[in-house]
Amino acid sequence: MLKTFSAAAVLLGASLAAAAQPAFVSYDSAAKTFRLDGGGASYVFGVNSRGELQQLYWGGRLGATDTFPQAAPLPEWASFDSSYNNTPQEYAGWGAGLFAEPALKVTFADGNRDLVLHYASHTVKANGFDVVLKDVKRKVAVTLHYSVDPESGILARWATIENGEALPVTVEQAAAAAWALPPAHYTLNYLTGRWAGEWTLNQEAVRQGARVIESRRGSTGHQANPWFAIAAGEPEEEQGEVWFGALAWSGSWRITVEQDQLDHVRVTGGFNPFDFGYVLHPGQTLETPVFYGGYSANGMGGASRLLHHFELAHVLPRTAATEGQPLPRPRPVIYNSWEATEFAVTEAGQMELAEKAAALGIDRFVMDDGWFGQRKDDHAGLGDWYVNKEKFPNGLKPLIDKVHALGMDFGLWVEPEMVNPNSDLYRKHPEWVLNFPLRPRTEQRNQMILNLARPDVRAYVLGFLDKLLTENDIAFLKWDYNRNWSEPGWDQLAPAEQKKVYVEFTRNLYAILAELRHRHPKVEIESCSGGGGRVDLGILRYTDEVWPSDNTDPFDRLTMQDGFTYAYTPQVMMAWVTDSPHWLNKRTTTLTYRMLSSMQGSLGIGANISKWSAEEAATVKRLIAAYHEVQPTIVEGDLYRLISPQDGSEFSATQTVRADKGQSVVFAFIHSTQEKRGFPRLKLKGLDPAAQYTISPIEGKALAGSPAVASGAWWMNHGLEMDADFRGDFQAAAFRLDRK
Ligand code: GLA
Repeated sequence: MLKTFSAAAVLLGASLAAAAQPAFVSYDSAAKTFRLDGGGASYVFGVNSRGELQQLYWGGRLGATDTFPQAAPLPEWASFDSSYNNTPQEYAGWGAGLFAEPALKVTFADGNRDLVLHYASHTVKANGFDVVLKDVKRKVAVTLHYSVDPESGILARWATIENGEALPVTVEQAAAAAWALPPAHYTLNYLTGRWAGEWTLNQEAVRQGARVIESRRGSTGHQANPWFAIAAGEPEEEQGEVWFGALAWSGSWRITVEQDQLDHVRVTGGFNPFDFGYVLHPGQTLETPVFYGGYSANGMGGASRLLHHFELAHVLPRTAATEGQPLPRPRPVIYNSWEATEFAVTEAGQMELAEKAAALGIDRFVMDDGWFGQRKDDHAGLGDWYVNKEKFPNGLKPLIDKVHALGMDFGLWVEPEMVNPNSDLYRKHPEWVLNFPLRPRTEQRNQMILNLARPDVRAYVLGFLDKLLTENDIAFLKWDYNRNWSEPGWDQLAPAEQKKVYVEFTRNLYAILAELRHRHPKVEIESCSGGGGRVDLGILRYTDEVWPSDNTDPFDRLTMQDGFTYAYTPQVMMAWVTDSPHWLNKRTTTLTYRMLSSMQGSLGIGANISKWSAEEAATVKRLIAAYHEVQPTIVEGDLYRLISPQDGSEFSATQTVRADKGQSVVFAFIHSTQEKRGFPRLKLKGLDPAAQYTISPIEGKALAGSPAVASGAWWMNHGLEMDADFRGDFQAAAFRLDRK
């Protein structure tokens, strides 16, 4: 039996681990207010005079003795907007004249659809509260879970909905949480994209009406990512107030940012209500995903640094080697064969690449698509997870042994949720795919989606992956997912029950990942979905890294990496160096430019290294060694986006600073120099002003215009001066600063 996925269990574990600093969680029984403090933030809500749970404050940390009076509902606005509609609630039921986005909408068995939730009780936990709301008449209860990270002040919020009625209740819309901000001028930041074009940062004024960011695709999607940041006024990188949030869900999701008729801003997020329906039978419960939310007084940069540290410390999984450690380990530098060979993998070919990879100082060799079933191209094989005997006559063992003998560990590509119609699995179990009976089945990349919500499919997928990992010494799985849902039918169930596929599929995915990690605690996993189609804080509880995009063009990656880091830590941002000219844009770039672009995240090599000259191999070997030396600073340190590459910027630069301020790494890139314009002086951030730092090039020349040693104050106030001949097209430089 698989363990049922429980967000609550994961969260409690996380908050216990974080209990190093005292959190401040208090309930004022006279004023009926709840307060959570952590890091630089406070969050306050209370029971108003009608009994609703009303939002009161979210922002910079308040004084320990500050108190709030009891929440007062907002007045009605003429005869059109009732007080219930105007009052921002923590979790509003749809009823009593609510026009704003509801957190919860249900239909009772008798057709009644009115739901008004009032406070019933609460319990205080180590770092939070459980607050129980009940409908004013009927037995529907919602427990709102709150947990605050004492260090970052990031809140985790989610809800459990319980049907205490004697008849079924259908949940039609269920948010994890709603957040609210008072009237002001705000800018909304969010990430959108498409295949090979993920991580576009959008910034727009919040105006009356709703901006919906969502996926209806059954998974997270390339097209929008479940993250938002709302800046007070215009967003600035290192100053100003920013409220941000991220939804931990890899199924269809929706975040609605709305400014209501009285200019209050509400952000409501959870399961996407599109095509949604979850029947709760008497006594049953539905747990929502977690919606994380945080506050920074230090601009967009401050917001992303809080998120990065939170993800490393409290979201990402641990392996046997890192169990109990404060942080997961930096990612091994990988070699991946995909762009070199595509489907044409063979034992001899992979062995040859492995030898070349080992000579470069690679830590992990990953064989991509093509090794299984009758997989010659993307028309066949998915679902048949046995080793292809023509390509690997003796199984995977000889290759894996060779990779180990070369001093690397071994990783393998899988796409477990998919099936090609041309496969033994589909011929045997055509009923296993998502489909509506007697309707056409839409293929994408010649494949269909196994209905992971079905217990038999879940058992099959867990079974073959467990067998693969038991029979082979595999350290890493690249878990791919190369299409989105169509015809999402689940015809085993009664019609009214079928829409719960949106919840059960994703829960079973999480359950399989959790069980595999439990049975194989040394295995690490990458979440890939044709690039960055499944990146969110839900999947990141079970996967150690993600593939941000199939687009590996080093110049495109600069803006993608910039966008990615608003929401996610560079630790999980895998970045391969591939061949030039690049297959997507036909752009030609130097090897050092490509290396430095990839070194901003977790470095990998995905080029056809058998074609590299001795000189190219030597360059890469030297830079991999240099990367290894500073990798923890790059992926765990504080990231400062010094110059944004967005909007066709001529220059871009990032800097990371190790937590103890002992080391810093700077990357600088030129798109195309025009009119001999020199690179702007880089005023560094986050250093110890009183300490002395030595600067040395990781790549590029020593800086003629800068001293070899200077104080943190000098680097931050005067700044780092690039050489005058740092000019041209697609140029890159990188430096490290070490405290003396
Ligand atoms: C997806 C991935 C690629 C590669 C191919 C293999 O597109 O994103 O990296 O693994 O599948 O088919």
